Amino acid sequence: MIFFIDTAEIDDVKEFYDWGIVDGVTTNPSLIAKSGGNQKEIITKLAEIVDGPISAEVLATDFDGMIKEGSELAKIHQNVVIKVPMTIDGLKATYWFHKNHIRTNVTLVFSANQALLAAKNGASYVSPFIGRLDDIGHTGLELIREIKTIFDNYNFETKILAASIRSTQHVKDVALAGSDVATIPPKLLKQLIKHPLTDIGLEKFLADAKK
Ligand code: E4P
Repeated sequence: MIFFIDTAEIDDVKEFYDWGIVDGVTTNPSLIAKSGGNQKEIITKLAEIVDGPISAEVLATDFDGMIKEGSELAKIHQNVVIKVPMTIDGLKATYWFHKNHIRTNVTLVFSANQALLAAKNGASYVSPFIGRLDDIGHTGLELIREIKTIFDNYNFETKILAASIRSTQHVKDVALAGSDVATIPPKLLKQLIKHPLTDIGLEKFLADAKK
């Protein structure tokens, strides 16, 4: 399973990339704004640290604007993946980028049909936002299962990128459901490691070894 880190904080990416469990990075306009930096500078720095896909989102909402912005972002580094929103113009842009050999991550996916359309247009990744579905009383995980079945039925190469992950339970659930990728916030990556019995067991082993 592929793990991306869901952040625009350079220090967090450095720290977790060293752990060996991070294969790429996802950013979005909110994460970039929170980091206080400039998108181009952040993506450039991330590409120097991480040898894997780095999603950078376009702000334009019209086809021409998405192509212009996405093409500029793609020039930063070959690992940059252009994140486009799941709209009509976003779908058209996905198809255009696909024909021009630029990888895309179709974001803000909340239904299996949206994922199907993105896959038909050659998206490299689709990002179903499971946490935001849970927030409105739906079961985000069910969406991952549906997309998985559809993509398997037709052998789509598009990868399922489980996004909006809010808990360690989410990570386990999307792994069980067969999601190709999970993008995980730094705080959760740390929580995945912890288990009280590991700490207690290690303490006892070390104490016994001293006897
Ligand atoms: C990543 O690609 C998404 O933008 C991110 O996971 C959204 O997470 P949120 O719903 O917690 O903002």
